[in-house]
Amino acid sequence: MRRIGVLTSGGDSPGMNAAIRAVVRCGIETGMEVYGISRGYEGLIDGEIRQMGFRDVSDILHRGGTVIKSARSERFKTEEGQIKAMNMLETFGIEGLVVIGGDGSLTGGLELSQRGIKVMGLPGTIDNDLGYTDFTIGFDTAVSTVLDAITKLRDTSSAHERTTVIEVMGRNCGDIALFAGLAGGAQAIFVPEVEEDINEVCKKIVISANDGKQHSIVIRAEGYRMSSQEIVDAIARMTGRETKLVVLSYLQRGGSPTMHDRMLATRTAAKAVELLAEDSTSKAIGIVDNTIVAYDLEEALQQKRVLDMDMYNLIGVLGK
Ligand code: ADP
Ligand code: F6P
Repeated sequence: MRRIGVLTSGGDSPGMNAAIRAVVRCGIETGMEVYGISRGYEGLIDGEIRQMGFRDVSDILHRGGTVIKSARSERFKTEEGQIKAMNMLETFGIEGLVVIGGDGSLTGGLELSQRGIKVMGLPGTIDNDLGYTDFTIGFDTAVSTVLDAITKLRDTSSAHERTTVIEVMGRNCGDIALFAGLAGGAQAIFVPEVEEDINEVCKKIVISANDGKQHSIVIRAEGYRMSSQEIVDAIARMTGRETKLVVLSYLQRGGSPTMHDRMLATRTAAKAVELLAEDSTSKAIGIVDNTIVAYDLEEALQQKRVLDMDMYNLIGVLGK
């Protein structure tokens, strides 16, 4: 394979730049020409494509965001859009494509793969919502950001003996709430995968407050069926404690990637280039038990993520 492309798509995530850097540099080292495609599938359809050199990816390893920009593309979801995208790949002579993005982006990659181009999918999303990999690129950094917020919110929560409800991202996946909740000592978490009993949560908050607990941190993943405000109002009413809401929102998507995200990005990207050089069939690349894995793209996307109930239950045991 002589010429490959790389794009980032969907919500950006810390570590995408590290992945782009490794694709470009490993590709060049393998004797390929590497083309950066701007704005995900939108840019592919519009031909926003340019060759990238070794120095074009200098000084980006440690930066959040993505130097080639990311986008969501409604046009690409149509057959017409996908045909235009394929035509553009042909125009530029691109024979293999590295797609860095979440579930939707990799599903888009599968569509292209079924139209005849080799696609390597890298799990680039803070959500950790892909079933085939233990971790996605950006998740570790996002959870670290949430932990930093929890540490600060604990201080003020203790000072005023308040309950703080923190809303985190994750669309339909509760992993950010789960990991931040366990590592940050939350009293309860509300995640889309589990129906939580608000009465029990409130009872627990009252009992622990009467037992001398100063602060109370509750985390709600954005996809939970009750809104954050409904949870805040219910806790305030049922516990009699002042309850505040903090929505972390896009703060979770930015920042310098952690060591784990840089390593995951770099190792999966290197694997993607290696597979393209071998002219392998399309794959989804990830990490399982700290080993880089590459599965058939279609089969990988069929694996649904399951919430770790042991971790979930541990929050209940420890957060009293
Ligand atoms: P993420 O990749 O982070 O999950 P999205 O679900 O928004 O984010 O998907 C990003 C983009 O991937 C979409 O805007 C669209 O261009 C493309 N995409 C998503 N789902 C599909 C699909 N079923 N078929 C083709 N393209 C898709
Ligand atoms: O998929 C990443 C993510 O940050 C989700 O956690 C969140 O629901 C969504 O993207 C927000 O998307 P947008 O950037 O379009 O507002």
